[in-house]
Amino acid sequence: MIFGTDYYPEHWPETRWDEDLRLMKEAGLDTIRIAEFAWSIMEPEEGIFDFGWLDRIVSLAESYSMKIVMCTPTAAPPKWLMDKHPEIYQKDEYGNVRGFGSRRHYCFNSPVFMEYSKKIVKAMGDHYKDFKSIIAWQLDNEYGCHNTVRCYCSDCSKAFSKWLEEKYSNIENMNEKLGMAFWGQHYPSFESVILPAHTTCDNKPAGMYAHNPGLYLDYCRFASDSVYDYSLMQVDVLRNCGIEVPITHNFMGSFFDLDYYKLQDQFEFISWDCYPNIAHGPFSSLSEVSFNHDKMRGYKNKKYWVMEHCSGQNGWNYMHKTPDPGQIRLWTYQSVAHGADGILYFRWRPCLFGTEQYWHGILDHDGIPRQRYEEVKETGKELRRIDRIIDESEVVSEICVINSFDNEWSHTYQKHSENFDYNKILHTVHNAILDLGLNCDVVDMNIDLSKYKVVVLPAYNISSDKDAEKLRKFAESGGTVVITFRSGNRDEFNKINGFTLPGYFKELCGIEVINYDAIGENPRKVSGITGELLANTWCDVLNPLESNVIAEYTDGFYKGSPCITRNSIGKGSVYYFAADFDREGYSGLLEHITSVAGLEKCIQGRVRGVETVVRSSGSEKYIFIMNQLPTPVYVPLERKYTELVENRSVSGTMRLEPYGTAVIY
Ligand code: GAL
Repeated sequence: MIFGTDYYPEHWPETRWDEDLRLMKEAGLDTIRIAEFAWSIMEPEEGIFDFGWLDRIVSLAESYSMKIVMCTPTAAPPKWLMDKHPEIYQKDEYGNVRGFGSRRHYCFNSPVFMEYSKKIVKAMGDHYKDFKSIIAWQLDNEYGCHNTVRCYCSDCSKAFSKWLEEKYSNIENMNEKLGMAFWGQHYPSFESVILPAHTTCDNKPAGMYAHNPGLYLDYCRFASDSVYDYSLMQVDVLRNCGIEVPITHNFMGSFFDLDYYKLQDQFEFISWDCYPNIAHGPFSSLSEVSFNHDKMRGYKNKKYWVMEHCSGQNGWNYMHKTPDPGQIRLWTYQSVAHGADGILYFRWRPCLFGTEQYWHGILDHDGIPRQRYEEVKETGKELRRIDRIIDESEVVSEICVINSFDNEWSHTYQKHSENFDYNKILHTVHNAILDLGLNCDVVDMNIDLSKYKVVVLPAYNISSDKDAEKLRKFAESGGTVVITFRSGNRDEFNKINGFTLPGYFKELCGIEVINYDAIGENPRKVSGITGELLANTWCDVLNPLESNVIAEYTDGFYKGSPCITRNSIGKGSVYYFAADFDREGYSGLLEHITSVAGLEKCIQGRVRGVETVVRSSGSEKYIFIMNQLPTPVYVPLERKYTELVENRSVSGTMRLEPYGTAVIY
């Protein structure tokens, strides 16, 4: 396993480098990631390259037998370039230039920027292709961070017209497919198509958008594809230089503007940046983080790295909560449990200048190793004891949640009811499954379903007959499918398909939706096989046709009508959830469904605040048990196990210290 840190030698006097590397080595850190923002230092003037400083840190690292992740520095285009070619800057949707002063100030569709990027990437590739210590390359840094996937400049406008022309061939076809008859929006030519920016009706704070939803979805896809093309250019340049080691990019967890299921195919492995102490949204940080880990594993269906792993308090203009002692270790175990086999802590030492002066790392500003350094060192020691297991085992799941960027973009634009939040629904369902002590994959519809017993499609709205057919085959051969409200309703052009709901999935579910209620924050009561439940956000009113009713509404104008149904298809089952539930509600329902489907829990006793994930190697199962709480917990074990890290036998009730972990088998 890779165990390292993100290092910025250019921020420190060279006289300090040796001490830094010595301390890293002493802490068991064997890898550094470097150079991702150092363009202005590598190419201080156009065409004048200076790799001297980088060579010196690389050879010093080699003298400590350390490995290197080398980065292309394109996330921070230098000022000389921006002054010479201001057309590279992004424009926001009001036409304002998103100027110099931070980073990522470039447009992915700028032909000029493409050329300059090629030159710097090629210069690096040529220079570093033979360095054996470089074990991987990271391209750029967090594509799209700071809301930079979507740009509204004239280069984007031209590129969007071209993208649309390639897709639709002729403008009549586009007008027809996207429904431009509405409000008489017919475009006379591809050149005249606008970028869906500021217009008369938009009222962002109230969440009102007026653009044609099909055009908007195409724009989201186009913007995501533009990043794809830019990134592929870098892969090609490096490969043409003769670089053979793996190439990756650092993805972001709760980030939705880039179709990572597409982008992943350029890389040998996925890596991502994990900051549990600043997890976003209305969720508890660790549940959001475990969802994100499972998404990352799902992009390539294999192990991944955490390229930036939280190792201290974070912040730009103010500081977020300092990790409690023990939390860095806990979060590291969590990453490994979910499938990471590379951990690089961000950052080695907090900077004394610049925007991120408050963003801490393993050391403090004064460069003195203290508690966090010791914690990282201990964590590394422990992980080395189970290195072989981390290498040989992987996360195997019998259940998956289907995710889709098209749906993310469509649901976010026209969100059905006031509090509808696609990501929250996916996240809640995922967490509900984890609460059962089951591993859960988060994947897209291209996945081979045959490796699962249960497939859950929350709000799978943009879909097709092909999807329905794939699910039918899966069910016929014994699989269990769960489909929810707001599924099967839209085609690939983001248009409502006009079929009786749930549209493409109607036959499969054996029901029809005869009405619906966008209930927002006014829950409805439901009663059924798992007792009483509260339905949130949305309620479909169903005619059960040939399916069995397993829960029904007990209030609302649809009191007494079905809320959850089960249909038999071949050897399998298709369940329909007509309403949204909370985590406990989903957990109860999925406990019933997964036990009927014969899924095996990794551990029986469910303890609140404790996360369990299993890594398997053949028939051997290694259970990672992680106490997310600042208080001790007691985990009942149904048999005797060996705890691997401490190499002791455990049985009965196992005590875990605050933020404590155990790996048992
Ligand atoms: C990440 C980014 C790093 C650094 C860090 C702290 O998102 O990749 O470069 O900025 O956040 O802000």
